[in-house]
Amino acid sequence: MKIKNALWLSPMEGVSDLGFRSVCVKRGADLTFTEMIRADALVRNNKATIELIDTFLKEVPTGLQLLASKPATLEKALKMISKKREEGDQRYLNIVCIDLNFGCPSKDVITKGAGPALLKREQRMRDLLTTLKKESPVPCGMKMRLGLGTADRRNKVYLRVVELANEIGLDWITVHPKTADKNSFDPLDLDALREILAIAKVPIIGNGFVKDGKSAKHFFDMGCSGVMIARSAIVNPWIFEEIKEYLRTGKVSRRDKDYAAALAEYEYIAIQYNAKDKFLTYHRKTFMDHVHGKLGYHSPNKKKKLV
Ligand SMILES: Cc1cc2nc3c(=O)[nH]c(=O)nc-3n(C[C@H](O)[C@H](O)[C@H](O)COP(=O)(O)O)c2cc1C
Repeated sequence: MKIKNALWLSPMEGVSDLGFRSVCVKRGADLTFTEMIRADALVRNNKATIELIDTFLKEVPTGLQLLASKPATLEKALKMISKKREEGDQRYLNIVCIDLNFGCPSKDVITKGAGPALLKREQRMRDLLTTLKKESPVPCGMKMRLGLGTADRRNKVYLRVVELANEIGLDWITVHPKTADKNSFDPLDLDALREILAIAKVPIIGNGFVKDGKSAKHFFDMGCSGVMIARSAIVNPWIFEEIKEYLRTGKVSRRDKDYAAALAEYEYIAIQYNAKDKFLTYHRKTFMDHVHGKLGYHSPNKKKKLV
């Protein structure tokens, strides 16, 4: 998998359905991801979970993001995905890569010992990443924070994870350089990211607060192979084109943004492919807010803290 100056749309729960991913790809995103999909629910054939796998369109390059804490469950989920692809199941056919989530700071995830709670467990991480590499039918990588909190940061658990990824030969690591106890507006720990970049033999994708060409270039100048963008893509799906132009010309250019047309484009796909109501409701409200000039970011889920 070639990753250079890559601009990726983040996996986002309640946001990243096929329609929204398509809107971003048409505006320059190189790769997108489904929202986090729980491997245990997938192997139980949970209908609502399966419905989140919506890679129906080849022209919308999409990675599947999985959350798994047990290697055996991950193995079953990956085997099931491979089988569905062999059978020609349209939901699974266009998955271009698989990402494992070790970044989600939600209490639900951490109290179950999943996500960032796993980063310090060396043997478990080795088993999970080895299984991922062995069983994934497509290129695979991971998305991580720096650990759970101060102790993990002090012990630099993230460096051992990067060494493991080097050894196993993952295709990328996305780093949101913060521990899981930090909130969505706390600053990035760029010292830790520099330490990671110094030892990484796999491409590193930088994530956090990319809002324009300049903030993206900062990650590339540090040595990242790509950046991943979440909240700013909701407010401005044109961000990918704008960054590309900035990287090419060094000039800031702002697109003429027709949010009403983008909403129509979104709805056309969302309705055709039966998007879940949670996506339709969120995007209709968000795009219409933008049409009316209210350009802030609003979380799709006010109760759960996701970032
Ligand atoms: C609404 C929302 C949902 C998210 N869901 C996920 C998810 O399913 N999986 C994941 O790895 N990260 C998820 N994140 C975290 C983002 O992918 C990203 O790491 C974080 O928002 C920082 O990037 P940003 O500063 O560009 O927003 C979510 C973020 C937001 C705002």
